[in-house]
Amino acid sequence: MSPDLDLQGRRALVTGGTQGVGAAIVEVLREAGARIVTTARSVPEISPPDLRYIAADIATAEGCAKVASFALEQLGGVDIVVNVVGGSTAPTGGFSVLDDDVWMRELNLNLMTAVRLDRALLPSMIAQGSGVVVHVTSIQGRLPLPESTTAYAAAKAALSTYSKSLSKEVSPKGVRVVRVSPGWVETAAAVALTERLAEQAGTDYAGGKQIIMNSLGGIPLGRPAKPREVADLVAFLVSSRAGAITGSEFVIDGGTVPTV
Ligand SMILES: NC(=O)c1ccc[n+]([C@@H]2O[C@H](COP(=O)([O-])OP(=O)(O)OC[C@H]3O[C@@H](n4cnc5c(N)ncnc54)[C@H](OP(=O)(O)O)[C@@H]3O)[C@@H](O)[C@H]2O)c1
Repeated sequence: MSPDLDLQGRRALVTGGTQGVGAAIVEVLREAGARIVTTARSVPEISPPDLRYIAADIATAEGCAKVASFALEQLGGVDIVVNVVGGSTAPTGGFSVLDDDVWMRELNLNLMTAVRLDRALLPSMIAQGSGVVVHVTSIQGRLPLPESTTAYAAAKAALSTYSKSLSKEVSPKGVRVVRVSPGWVETAAAVALTERLAEQAGTDYAGGKQIIMNSLGGIPLGRPAKPREVADLVAFLVSSRAGAITGSEFVIDGGTVPTV
């Protein structure tokens, strides 16, 4: 992405920045000149000057509080918050295998991470009269797969509704709130899953990809998105070029969602 995104010296918290989409977002924002705090449960021991790591489990209230105060202290405030952490560890098997523990785990990871971090960081953004919050949702929010993603999809849909409401409240105070909704992204974890499925089905990597694309009802573009492509979209949205954009969702799915 071009370096003229006007992110020089901007202070950003990116959650889940050690792998996958989050790592790509950290890379792109750094290239554009932002100063970044990022978090994961396990982090590298050495932080370069423009990138600070903090180890925390942000599926807990304590983890979110720790990360929020570290970001405010290290950066002296925040201009950009990108809530990336999310995912699913729910078992397959439909609604009946989703007990309360599974539901609470999915909600804590996919909804409450953002709710808690935003609640801790928005007051400083409102006080300075500017800021951008990005919520990474998923096309599953509108395209749930009942065998395996009911709880995850419902949590992402809740994140989306929360995000929209938040945008109405804080946009008049100078803080933009946007959603980025990926379809299948070819992260390292996705590559490992593809290889596993391919092996189980006795096919090659391309065959494994096809299995996943078929489970989504096909991807018109014929491929998943790259993490870097999602990161480029986020970088644009947090830049001043997107200054009139708030309260909206940006789908990046190669055309997977079949409806308007
Ligand atoms: N990949 C896809 O196809 C896809 C599609 C649609 C939406 N999305 C969404 O995009 C986002 C990123 O997904 P991804 O596939 O890039 O994820 P990923 O590759 O699994 O990476 C997840 C990142 O979050 C960190 N993390 C996970 N749980 C955490 C926790 N409890 N506390 C703190 N950090 C935690 C991980 O590090 P540690 O493990 O060390 O904590 C890692 O840095 C998620 O919200 C996901 O729902 C992904």
